[in-house]
Amino acid sequence: MTDVLSIEDLWVEAGDPRDPVTLVRGVSLSVEAGSVVGLVGESGSGKTVTCMASLGLAGRGVRITRGSVRLGGTELVGADEPTMRRVRGGVVGTVFQDPLGALNPLQRVGDQIAEAVQLHRGGRRRAHRDRVVHLLTQVGVPDPARRARAYPHELSGGMRQRVAIAMALANDPSLVVADEPTTALDVTVQAQVLDVIRRATKDDGRAALIITHDLGLVAEVADRVAVMYAGQIVEKGSVAEVFAAPRHPYTQGLLASRPALEPGRRRLSAMGGRPPLPGSWPVGCAFAPRCPVAVEACTTPPPVDQSDGRWSRCWHPQVESMEGVS
Ligand SMILES: Nc1ncnc2c1ncn2[C@@H]1O[C@H](COP(=O)(O)OP(=O)(O)OP(=O)(O)O)[C@@H](O)[C@H]1O
Ligand SMILES: [Mg+2]
Repeated sequence: MTDVLSIEDLWVEAGDPRDPVTLVRGVSLSVEAGSVVGLVGESGSGKTVTCMASLGLAGRGVRITRGSVRLGGTELVGADEPTMRRVRGGVVGTVFQDPLGALNPLQRVGDQIAEAVQLHRGGRRRAHRDRVVHLLTQVGVPDPARRARAYPHELSGGMRQRVAIAMALANDPSLVVADEPTTALDVTVQAQVLDVIRRATKDDGRAALIITHDLGLVAEVADRVAVMYAGQIVEKGSVAEVFAAPRHPYTQGLLASRPALEPGRRRLSAMGGRPPLPGSWPVGCAFAPRCPVAVEACTTPPPVDQSDGRWSRCWHPQVESMEGVS
């Protein structure tokens, strides 16, 4: 399968260039056509910055200092503004946590989707009515022709997020990037919205990158997972492998901190401490201060271990599965 998105050795910093703060260091990540990748990690690990900087959407003062971001064969690092506009306007569709923020409260949702289509394809807004209904149908909005005439506040949170996804899909993007797309929704609706994203990816051969701190969600929707900590990827691989036998102690900690799914089952001990902030990352392995199995060597930067086709950034990746730990 071809990679739709390929990020390689991405470094991102912010602040005064004479005294910069590094936010992302050496992230490599790719997403194949027809697949969903989940990017996970605690708050502040750099998930959003990685994606936003890659798409040229990061805020002022945030800059890429090294690395490559290729989208369908086009290099985005250093690309000119027309290229980036084309990328943002159609090649990539973005979905954010708060659908209200993405939608104009004063405009009917159908008109907003039509406008997104019009911006890219031209023509009159009215001419795109069929496309709007098609998109709303695709994201599972019942009675789409009627709902198209609704204003955002007239829809439930789940319906609004479906509309936001429809807008993201409006110009047939090859990549969908969703940053915490279901965090604002209640649990039953979360699964439905994720299913919409997953199907829009699989059925149409797109690629999707879903950012979340909810591991349960990743297990449900993603094919592959990348775990971030302090601006780095510490483990990546197939969801099946990583969840069955996480190699990095941080991944193990995240998995163990999940609430038990079955009632009555003991919840495992949560990780102690908090992740360090950019600018105060420990020398060596940034997770070492919280790591239950850290040793002397962990005060120096850990190498990437790629034994048995797995990938983790740790001095002593854990090779036993977590079975028995529970
Ligand atoms: N423009 C900026 N200038 C300085 N620091 C920034 C800037 N943008 C983000 N940061 C810092 O970079 C770190 C990573 O932020 P990011 O938003 O990528 O985290 P995240 O992994 O997406 O977390 P969350 O799960 O809370 O969304 C944070 O400590 C944040 O404060
Ligand atoms: Mg974020």
